[in-house]
Amino acid sequence: MKKIYLLGHPVKQSMSVSILNPIFEKRGMDLRYELLDVKPEELGEVVTGLLKDENCLAFNVTVPHKENVIEYLKDISDDAKDIGAVNCVDAKTGKGYNTDWKGFKKSVENFEVADVATVFGAGGASKAIVYALCVLGFKEIRVVNRTVERAEKLVERFSELFKDKTFKIHSLKESSKALSGADWLVNTTSVGMYPNVDECIPVDEEEIRKLKLVYDVVHNPKITKLLSIAQKVGVNFVSGTEMWINQAKENFKIWNVEEITDEFEEKARELIG
Ligand code: ATR
Repeated sequence: MKKIYLLGHPVKQSMSVSILNPIFEKRGMDLRYELLDVKPEELGEVVTGLLKDENCLAFNVTVPHKENVIEYLKDISDDAKDIGAVNCVDAKTGKGYNTDWKGFKKSVENFEVADVATVFGAGGASKAIVYALCVLGFKEIRVVNRTVERAEKLVERFSELFKDKTFKIHSLKESSKALSGADWLVNTTSVGMYPNVDECIPVDEEEIRKLKLVYDVVHNPKITKLLSIAQKVGVNFVSGTEMWINQAKENFKIWNVEEITDEFEEKARELIG
């Protein structure tokens, strides 16, 4: 039996397992999706082992390994190199890809691109999204983070890559300034994620009302506190569930199982509600 793994630490209950395995089984595909809890110090050994394992078709990588996995791979795609993070690996070739940014881009394709985006967070998800916003054509990206040094590092990376864009850095205390005149707000932090569903990044109704789109990468709950404010004041919003579904669909291309795409999407939407 061929295997596809998800490497993370900790790897908790994954929606992918409960959706994918019944689909593989029903279609008589000789394939299983399994979770692998890999501690940071074990990452090199595990990845090297998987790349030699005839039964391993591919693996996904999640927090905290998306950056550190790169050094153990044989090759990475140009976009993953630019972003500095890999979330999907073809074990047959040892090549790493970043499908997070593609999932984000696809999930906003029905919204008009504007000039200024304010992104909360400066971790792995933020990198993929800042990259996507640059590719989409935003002119100015403002990065707001609790740890300002992390935002500085991120901006340093992308200002090298996208020399025609303007990047600004703000602390959480400056979030009003960071939102003034902005078109899109994207939350890439884990603030508001289950079980802390009453938490929200420091923004108020009046600031949200002036935006064109509010996006929350958090996918559990589907409608976070932040999105509920956007909903209340009548601003367009997109849930992280859309990014999650779309990155999975991108992974299927790499895994060579595109035939399951529609069934996966249907089951995922049923489960998400
Ligand atoms: P991911 O890959 O999901 O982006 P990450 O790399 O751990 O995960 O990044 C988490 C992001 O959420 C960071 O921007 C983090 O801020 P710091 O860089 O200051 O750690 C942000 N974050 C997490 N919990 C937060 C909280 N309670 N308040 C504000 N920001 C928070």
